[in-house]
This record gives sequence, C-alpha cells and structure tokens, in this order.
Amino acid sequence: MLNSIMPKNNTYILAIESSCDDTAAAVLLNDKTLSNVVAGQAVHKQYGGVVPELASRAHQQNIVPVVHEALRLANVKKEDLAAIAFTSGPGLMGSLLVGTSFAKSLAMGLNIPLIDVNHMQAHILAHFIEEENYSKPTFPFLAMTISGGHTQIVKVSNYFEMEVLGQTIDDAVGEAFDKSAKILGLPYPGGPLIDKYAKLGNPKAYKFTKPKVDGLNFSFSGFKTAVLYFYQREIAKDPQFVTNNLNDICASIQYTIVEILMDKIKKAVKETGIKQVAIGGGVSANSGIRDALKTAEGKYGWKTYIPKFEYTTDNAAMIGIVGYLKYSAENLENTGFKETRVMAQSRLKL
Ligand code: KG4
Ligand code: ZN
Repeated sequence: MLNSIMPKNNTYILAIESSCDDTAAAVLLNDKTLSNVVAGQAVHKQYGGVVPELASRAHQQNIVPVVHEALRLANVKKEDLAAIAFTSGPGLMGSLLVGTSFAKSLAMGLNIPLIDVNHMQAHILAHFIEEENYSKPTFPFLAMTISGGHTQIVKVSNYFEMEVLGQTIDDAVGEAFDKSAKILGLPYPGGPLIDKYAKLGNPKAYKFTKPKVDGLNFSFSGFKTAVLYFYQREIAKDPQFVTNNLNDICASIQYTIVEILMDKIKKAVKETGIKQVAIGGGVSANSGIRDALKTAEGKYGWKTYIPKFEYTTDNAAMIGIVGYLKYSAENLENTGFKETRVMAQSRLKL
C-alpha cells in the first residue's frame, strides 16, 4: 500500500463533493484549505428527508457556481490546478454522477490528473488537513465515522490502510437522530435540533433501552421504534407532552445515542489496545459525543481528535486532502489526464 507520502511544493488541488445533498467545492494548497464552499439543498426540508432526484437536479444547478466561488475565494486560476479530486462513492448514484462528470470534463479540458476519493476515507483523513492549533492523530488510531449514511469503527493503520472493525447493521446514527426528531415533529435534518434542545434538558428524564448487538456492530432501527412507542404512549395521555417536555425528551434521546456510541468505542479500545480515537462525519458535530470524548481523555487516558466544525459535515476540503495525499503518494506530477478510475460507485467500500 501507499505508505510514504512525499510532500510536493505548491500543489493546488480542486476538490468536488456531491455524494448526497450538499454540493461542495474546495481548493487546497498542499494540505491547507484555501477555500471550502458548501451549498446545501433546502428543497428536501419539506419532504423530511433527501429526495434523490431532487438532489441530483440541485447539484446540476449548484456545481458551476460553487466551483467558481471556491476558485475565486482561493484566488486560484483553473490553469494553476495540479489535479482534480472528486467523490466517487459511496453515495446516491444520481448525485455522484453530477460531480463525477463535472470533475472528469474539467480534468480532461485542463489535461491534469483526476483523483477518485472514497467519501468515508475522506471523513477520516479530514484530520490531516493542516490547521493552526490542531494536532493530527498518529498511526495507528481508531476512527468512528458517524453520519447520516454510515456508522463505522475503523482501525486506521496508515493513510490508505483502513480496516472496518464494526458498523451498523441497519440505520445509521444520523438517521436515529433525524427519525427521532421527525417523530417529535421537528424539521429535517433534526440531528442539530435535538442537540440544541438537549443542552437545555435533563438527560435522565426518560429511559430508552439500548440495543444488544454483537461485537463492534451497531443497530439503530430498534431505538427509532422505541422512540415512536414512547411518543405514542405519552401523547395518548397528554396531547401537549412533546411541547411541554421537548428539552428533556431531546436530552434523553441524545444521552442514549451517545451511550450506544461510547459503549462500542470503549470496547474497540479494549480489544485493540489503541487509545487514540478520532471522530468524523456529520454527527461528530454533536455536543454530547464531543463532551463524552473529552471526558474520556481524563477518565481513561485516551487521546481524542475532534475535527473543526466545517470538516465534520459533508465538505470538499476533506476530499481535497485525500486528493493531495494520493497525488503525493502516487507521484502524479505532470502525468496529465488519464481516463481510468472515473466511475461513480454508490456502494463503494472502505
Ligand atoms: O456527514 P453528513 O453531513 O452527511 C452524510 O454523509 O450523511 O451527516 C449528516 C448527518 C445528519 O443525520 C444530521 O442530522 C447529523 O449528521 N448531524 C447531527 C448534528 N449535526 C449534524 N446530529 C446530531 N447532532 C448534531 N449537532
Ligand atoms: Zn458524509
């Protein structure tokens, strides 16, 4: 595998991310972010979840202005680019295809290398973006990728050597947040709202049973059903139950989800003996999981890594850092455009 990274000087990489419902572009100078632009898609809110066809159409509308803005903010001309990195998967096929075709055409037009990036690997390697006052993890470390589409515990031995130790067998943790929020009548995506109200409530007010899943795997579909039954039971007794107790309900839901995540990561640390834990993906913006990890530093002697907020949810800077690491490792300098490896793969594995 690609272990030795030879840093290159002044490599400008344009990165494009379009795997789900955010159209994003970033420009990196080596491992530093010069610009990181994200256009969200408000269109899905009214449907309570991402509608694939609408996502694809919105990507088509957004991609040119978003890339243009990323280059403008970075003050970089497209002729100065050394390579283009793009998300090849996993994700929604129609969404991935927009970024893939755009990246391919531009790389072909500029005759520069096109670098395919795995979205999940990018959530993990986002920790290697150079940032002031941020110390990067050292190998090996454990990464917990927690988002709307994935929940995994990964052993990271090197930039490109990753082993999935456990993952969800049904819903992702982000879905557990979003679906619970939907039951409570909160708009999509409900994860950040549960977090907001949880800060004001009592986490022990209500008890939800935790799923029993073997090994380092997760399950969240039973949790969602537990929230639904709880809601139906309480609302039958008092129609104002949610309105009157929203903060406590959110705090209790968040507390349980964070415990489920922490139980598994503690188990992973115990089994591997690796005490470095990094998190990535949209749910790592959650204050509950952030606090729990910080507490674990003092309590268990772990070293934990929590990315800067803008690198937690989907963004293109994380695609750019993987592009840069691959560019350096594979010695792609002046190799021009190659038409290989340009497939969008919705089910791409780590
Ligand atoms: O990584 P991401 O932007 O997209 C995917 O690849 O899925 O993650 C989006 C997910 C959504 O489920 C959203 O509700 C959740 O991350 N999320 C949060 C918070 N911020 C975003 N969940 C809980 N607390 C938050 N503060
Ligand atoms: Zn993601």
